Amino acid sequence: MAILLGDTAPDFTAQTTEGEIRFHDYIDGHWAVLFSHPKNYTPVCTTELGYTAKLKPEFDKRDVKVLGLSVDKIEEHSGWAKDIEDTQGSALNFPLIADDGSIARQYDMIHPNADNTLTVRSVFVIGPDKKVKLKLEYPASTGRNFDEILRVIDSLQLTAKHQVATPVNWKNGEDVIIVPAVSNEQAKEKFPEGWNEVRPYLRIVKQPSL
Ligand code: BEZ
Repeated sequence: MAILLGDTAPDFTAQTTEGEIRFHDYIDGHWAVLFSHPKNYTPVCTTELGYTAKLKPEFDKRDVKVLGLSVDKIEEHSGWAKDIEDTQGSALNFPLIADDGSIARQYDMIHPNADNTLTVRSVFVIGPDKKVKLKLEYPASTGRNFDEILRVIDSLQLTAKHQVATPVNWKNGEDVIIVPAVSNEQAKEKFPEGWNEVRPYLRIVKQPSL
């Protein structure tokens, strides 16, 4: 069965470049990003992993634990990590899972009509409650935009903390929208400086701090 938004992210035990990890214990109480890449020693993956390592301070600031995954052997991960450092200027600084295919199948990361063995580029953002908050799937040939993943995490964290939603093309610092579930009475308490009521269902407010 496909994993849907709001489902509990399936637990697993995995060999990683940072030792054995039990997923639920590892992410306990934190946000997490679990992403697959099709294969070690491939060009797009090399750039993605190098860039994700560069973003570590940004993930840390947001209390996000990052884990990469591919169906490769642990020894191959270690050899490739050296290449990532040499070519991308940043060493791996998050665990890379060496999957035997079982986690990839559990998370539907293999799409047989695209390729029978390689994973697609899946991304799962998981909340501190271990529920799946976001799913993305890209083809192997298209590198993902990890700045966009940070942007979505900012939006998800604002919703979780402040009950605001983010409008089209929103970026950190721009105005946000009070979610429909918040009544005007409740909004007065949450946003004492007021809001711009464009329509009763479209209430724009300054972005609360993240
Ligand atoms: C890559 O990471 O460069 C890649 C992997 C599989 C298919 C196409 C590109």
